[in-house]
Amino acid sequence: MYKTVFSHVGEYKKQAILSPITIIGEVVMEVTIPLVMAKIIDNGIKEGRISYVAGMGALMVGMALLSLFFGAIAARLSAVAAMGFAKNLRGALFRKVQDFSFANVDKFSTASLTTRLTTDVTNLQNAFMMFIRMAFRSPIMLISATTMAVSINAKLSIVFLFAIPILGGAVFIIISKAHPRFEKMLKEYDNMNAKVQENLVGIRVVKAFSREEYEKKRFNENTDSVRRAQVFAEKLIIMSMPIMQLCMYGSICAILWFGGNMAVDGGIATGELSSFIMYVAQILMSLMMLSMLFIMFVISRASLQRIYEVLSEEPTIKDKESGISAEDGSVSFRNVSFSYFNDMNNLALSHIDLDILSGETIGIIGGTGSSKTSLVQLIPRLYDATEGDVIVGGHNVKEYALDTLRDQVAMVLQKNVLFSGTIKENLRWGNENATDEEIVAACKSACAHDFIMNFPDGYDTDLGQGGVNVSGGQKQRICIARALLKKPRIIILDDSTSAVDTATDSSIRKAFREDLADTTTIIIAQRISSVMDADRIIVMDNGKITDVGTHDQLMQTSSIYREVYDSQQKGADE
Ligand SMILES: Nc1ncnc2c1ncn2[C@@H]1O[C@H](COP(=O)(O)OP(=O)(O)O)[C@@H](O)[C@H]1O
Ligand SMILES: [Mg+2]
Repeated sequence: MYKTVFSHVGEYKKQAILSPITIIGEVVMEVTIPLVMAKIIDNGIKEGRISYVAGMGALMVGMALLSLFFGAIAARLSAVAAMGFAKNLRGALFRKVQDFSFANVDKFSTASLTTRLTTDVTNLQNAFMMFIRMAFRSPIMLISATTMAVSINAKLSIVFLFAIPILGGAVFIIISKAHPRFEKMLKEYDNMNAKVQENLVGIRVVKAFSREEYEKKRFNENTDSVRRAQVFAEKLIIMSMPIMQLCMYGSICAILWFGGNMAVDGGIATGELSSFIMYVAQILMSLMMLSMLFIMFVISRASLQRIYEVLSEEPTIKDKESGISAEDGSVSFRNVSFSYFNDMNNLALSHIDLDILSGETIGIIGGTGSSKTSLVQLIPRLYDATEGDVIVGGHNVKEYALDTLRDQVAMVLQKNVLFSGTIKENLRWGNENATDEEIVAACKSACAHDFIMNFPDGYDTDLGQGGVNVSGGQKQRICIARALLKKPRIIILDDSTSAVDTATDSSIRKAFREDLADTTTIIIAQRISSVMDADRIIVMDNGKITDVGTHDQLMQTSSIYREVYDSQQKGADE
């Protein structure tokens, strides 16, 4: 786990290694300063040698400056290394997520992935910075200060034998309890981010339904859960500070008491005693730092684990090198069953057998939740069938390189998005090298050309983020044009004209018949009128295909189809 994550320090390894080295310089200075001070007191002040005091004083200032210099360089290096590490790690996570299939994204949820890329990486970055600065500094300081203290007076050093176990025991208890609390805290963060994301994406709906007050209340509850989890976790960590300080000041009191008595009896020089106290402070300080380091380690471990989960997640759909390309636009389902949960008892599609000929136009009708979307998603391999085979253009979808397959199967998603940028830039997502003529032709087929030309800037009109400044129906038509630009063999429209008026809908279908005669077209729709003139219509119910046929055949044979038709006719007549 550590190796996978920390390999992303990458080119910042240099700084990560140099930083502890400069820290050694800092520590050496800090540890020798008390020695100089002891000399000043015992040899200078006691004997009234002002020039000696001044000389040694200057040396001490020089050493302090040098220590400051090393310290500053180390701080800079460690900051550079930690930030570079965070940058690399975020990059790696982002690249990984780009390789995820829909199933992988379902598993983590978008919100959790966001927290992992932001908060968790920041946690790890801070821990890493602290680690490079403290992991060397504290042990070196501890050892050298202890050596110095023992060499000054071994008897006084016995005090540490009491202080260290108390401190160690306390830290151990804190660490063992803290980890689960921090894990819980991060989960609450996930929930909060999910809430923020959902609300901001749907802010227009929230306003349209005047749900602001309700949303505010819900969000307050979310943030309050985060606060509670945070307090619960930090409460434990906060305890470590007073315990450490108690140990430190208790030790100093004990040393002042015993050392003071020794000094009165002449067992230790005054200067030695005061430098001994400085060493005590250094020793306990480095112990404190070490404990903090352990605690930091625990806090960041939860984040580390969450990052590792993403990095080590196997994409459920793996791309492969393959020269295979589709021979035609045919699609076959061979006994296909599909579950979103990889569970044969919880199927979204069960035992589908279906052959679609190249160039055929297929309509799909069925109630919401009847698995229309689930069925067509298997064709461009957005999900993999749990059982059975999906054959496209004469080959199993698993034999294609994903790029090749998805270039030949264009799917206009039910929940589609445009990105910020101009209309033309959005259209070029379909085909980067499309010429202006091809773009215009695709837009004409999708009945988008006319309204685009009505914008003052035409194809160069800037779409706001997510395409806010076009209507729902206009957005759908741009999405269709974008898919057409791929010049696919198979095009799937998943309820893609739901927001388009019936007249435009019918001209789109007419254009499709004329311009895309050789392209297999699969149209999922709510309106019977959208699929009526298809070569064949599939009726779906509850994850199964119940009927297949032309409009006239289905009117005879399918009760579901007739019901839908009747209800829509009635709507149209009124
Ligand atoms: N990402 C998903 N994870 C789990 N279940 C899903 C997911 N998407 C859809 N479903 C479920 O699969 C069933 C079929 O959904 P879908 O294919 O979207 O229906 P339709 O497109 O016909 O309205 C529904 O019961 C729905 O709740
Ligand atoms: Mg659907």
